Amino acid sequence: MKKYSIVIAGGGSTFTPGIVLMLLDNLNKFPIRKLKFYDNDEERQSIVAGACEIIIKEKAPEIEFVATTDPEEAFTDVDFVMAHIRVGKYAMRELDEKIPLKHGVVGQETCGPGGIAYGMRSIGGVLELVDYMEQYSPNAWMLNYSNPAAIVAEATRRLRPNSKILNICDMPVATEDLMSKILGLSSRKEMNVRYYGLNHFGWWTDIRDNDGNDLMPKLKEHVRQYGYVTNAGQNEQHIEASWNDTFLKVRDTYAMDPETLPNTYLKYYLFPDYVVEHSNSEYTRANEVMDGREKFVFGECEKVIKQQSTEGIKLHTDDHASYIVDLARAIAYNTHERMLLIVENKGAIENFDPTAMVEIPCIVGSNGPEPLSIGTIPQFQKGLMEQQVSVEKLVVEAWATGSYQRLWQALTLSKTVPSAKVAKDILDDLIEANKEYWPELKKEAELVTANV
Ligand code: NAD
Ligand code: G6P
Ligand code: MN
Repeated sequence: MKKYSIVIAGGGSTFTPGIVLMLLDNLNKFPIRKLKFYDNDEERQSIVAGACEIIIKEKAPEIEFVATTDPEEAFTDVDFVMAHIRVGKYAMRELDEKIPLKHGVVGQETCGPGGIAYGMRSIGGVLELVDYMEQYSPNAWMLNYSNPAAIVAEATRRLRPNSKILNICDMPVATEDLMSKILGLSSRKEMNVRYYGLNHFGWWTDIRDNDGNDLMPKLKEHVRQYGYVTNAGQNEQHIEASWNDTFLKVRDTYAMDPETLPNTYLKYYLFPDYVVEHSNSEYTRANEVMDGREKFVFGECEKVIKQQSTEGIKLHTDDHASYIVDLARAIAYNTHERMLLIVENKGAIENFDPTAMVEIPCIVGSNGPEPLSIGTIPQFQKGLMEQQVSVEKLVVEAWATGSYQRLWQALTLSKTVPSAKVAKDILDDLIEANKEYWPELKKEAELVTANV
């Protein structure tokens, strides 16, 4: 069996140890000969790498391990690039969340103005990774889960149309895990789903078991009362009170369209007033993550390095992250696995922009994804998606052309923002905060009555 060489871009990510443990648990299904970490922050990466080197020595000493900040060393001789970078790190995520909140608008990592700001930082970072891959390992595939995935996917479609990049999100996977628990199934793989939308913006329309029995009625009955909250235990990633609140709020999103089951992220667009009221502008999710996951992961990694062993260490496998292995295997072994990916629409949703990047089921094989046909979608979803996809396209347009007006239009079109005036106030604060990361934006005209 061929053994694969992988580089994890964003080696210093809080998710890296969980993914490494998951890869090591799946070596029988997906053998690895070389694992490399790449990051542009040597100090941050060195802590995660120091611990992972010891983990690998204990569990699979035959795997060659390298951590580097040199693109040539990182991207040479690889079959897969697993990319999860966060350009600007948590310090910038905190500003993405707090600046809009200061203006009474949703402050969120991937939705609304925060997601737009993050997108303007991520595009350049991810395109750089694509270019390194194509320069040093032209036959490799990139599995990208760097956020905001919707904007990153549109950027690669438009600016690197021939690159071998697959954009994927774990929210549907994590939600399907919860659904399978609600249904008392042993795995989400016992469900066959129909789903459509944009990334962090979609709906399940049909869920059946392997015999074809409709599982939607039982799920809907649960969701009507409890959202996606289940006492059967969450995955390790979405456990805090704030995630619980998100899973519970699904009741209201569901009530708006009881024909379908919604992605959790729709709450930010449909109930932005509720979200703002329940946000603490002094302590947002970024603070929760820095005080929680980041401290925990880096603390445990430092312990591993200090004691030179993993004894008593609480770092755990990211179980639900095994979808990454499913995706890599689909490419490597032409498995034709059915997975939700973010791909160019090209008519899969008949009554929707063929150039939109949509999240839909695909059959994945060695040549990449084959999207399944969705047919026509209802007016409500179509209207919401047209507005949101326009936001995403305008962000990429603004980045590519350096246009202030395009980005102002993007913010104004976001359903989370009440007016062009508020959009501009937020934008001007975001420009100031992102000076180091965004391309310079040229203004074609000024607001005449800005202070009225
Ligand atoms: P993190 O800040 O802990 O890790 C990100 C790493 O990327 C950091 O070590 C940073 O130094 C590095 N980095 C930043 N810019 C870089 C660049 N230009 N080149 C190389 N490395 C760079 O963040 P995290 O919370 O662990 O999340 C990592 C990423 O994964 C984020 O983009 C997050 O949004 C994403 N994520 C996506 C999904 C999904 O469903 N698609 C799920 C979980 C996390
Ligand atoms: C889900 C989403 C990701 C997002 C993550 C945020 O998994 O699919 O796209 O990055 O949640 O989690 P966090 O714990 O960092 O707020
Ligand atoms: Mn996601």
